[in-house]
Amino acid sequence: MKLKITCIPGDGIGPEIVAEAKKVLDTVAEKYGHDMQYTDILMGGASIDAHGVPLTDEAVETAKNADAVLMGSIGGDTTTSPWYKLPPNLRPEAGLLGIRKALNLFANLRPAVLYEELAQACPLKQDISGNGFDMLIMRELTGGLYFGERKTVEENGVRKAIDTLTYDENEIRRIAVKGFDIARKRRKKVTSVDKANVLDSSRLWRAVVEEVAKDYPDVTLEHMLVDNCAMQLVKDPAQFDVILTENMFGDILSDEASMVTGSIGMLASASLNDTKFGLYEPSHGSAPDIAGKDLANPIATILSASMMLRYSFDLDKEADAIDEAVKQVLRDGYRTGDIMSEGCEKVGCKKMGDLIVERIK
Ligand code: IPM
Ligand code: MG
Repeated sequence: MKLKITCIPGDGIGPEIVAEAKKVLDTVAEKYGHDMQYTDILMGGASIDAHGVPLTDEAVETAKNADAVLMGSIGGDTTTSPWYKLPPNLRPEAGLLGIRKALNLFANLRPAVLYEELAQACPLKQDISGNGFDMLIMRELTGGLYFGERKTVEENGVRKAIDTLTYDENEIRRIAVKGFDIARKRRKKVTSVDKANVLDSSRLWRAVVEEVAKDYPDVTLEHMLVDNCAMQLVKDPAQFDVILTENMFGDILSDEASMVTGSIGMLASASLNDTKFGLYEPSHGSAPDIAGKDLANPIATILSASMMLRYSFDLDKEADAIDEAVKQVLRDGYRTGDIMSEGCEKVGCKKMGDLIVERIK
């Protein structure tokens, strides 16, 4: 199969981790007889430095012409980097928001899994973490507060800022359908998270999710208020299968869920539109403090490449081979610094990539 992949190495550790993911993809391509073609584009700080803007129209066009996009990470140190002296619409994050909107990537899948081999990294007490957990946060990604109208004004000498939270029923329906579809392939439970005791947008969210649920009688639906969900994630994470929620709640809850695993360097994500096209990236950021030192954990990016093969190309066997190689490396006792524990062997970013490659061959 011929796979046209646009890569966004990005900033910080991005280029290092994408390089390892490409190595893994090339190994899979060779073993299973695929032809991978990569085209790199700039985004975030790298694009600001080269073009003065965090995302160019040409870069968007290149991404649109690919079958899928694999991204590392963007952004720098927000207190020291000159990128953050620029107006908000020219900062690195604007590139990420821009590409999400331009490619209509409304469905953001963020799995949070407690790996058996890394169970001791979980910050929860053993009586809670002992049950393990494997959840997927389905976050709406192109609506809500992130893309509503916003402005800052001054009224009678008083500064005032306004952000608007809007959802129409079509936006809610299409993400709910994605959530139920994926729940069907998992443990068949959807927890829809909202703030329906306060917000109109949440009340509409709840109503539309219930309509969609009628087409999925085999999937259990429950509703949960977002503040309660924040508590339940640390009290009993094993209760969750698919968490379905809007943009801002999903941003916050997905960070919480990843911290609960204790190993954010392991977590992949996918952002999909309504075709097979998607953008795949690790859940973690650009870690500028360790950039260029061969210290980064490339596993989340490698697992994002695996998600790409699974969701955009239906190459399940190839994706399984990557996932299994990652598990095997952990079982063999190799760890990057972020997931290091006693009795294991500490390795750098490149070596971790090589070890995974060896186990796929
Ligand atoms: C994320 C990030 C982004 C977001 C930022 C960088 C704009 O936190 O992907 O979760 O808020 O969506
Ligand atoms: Mg976030």
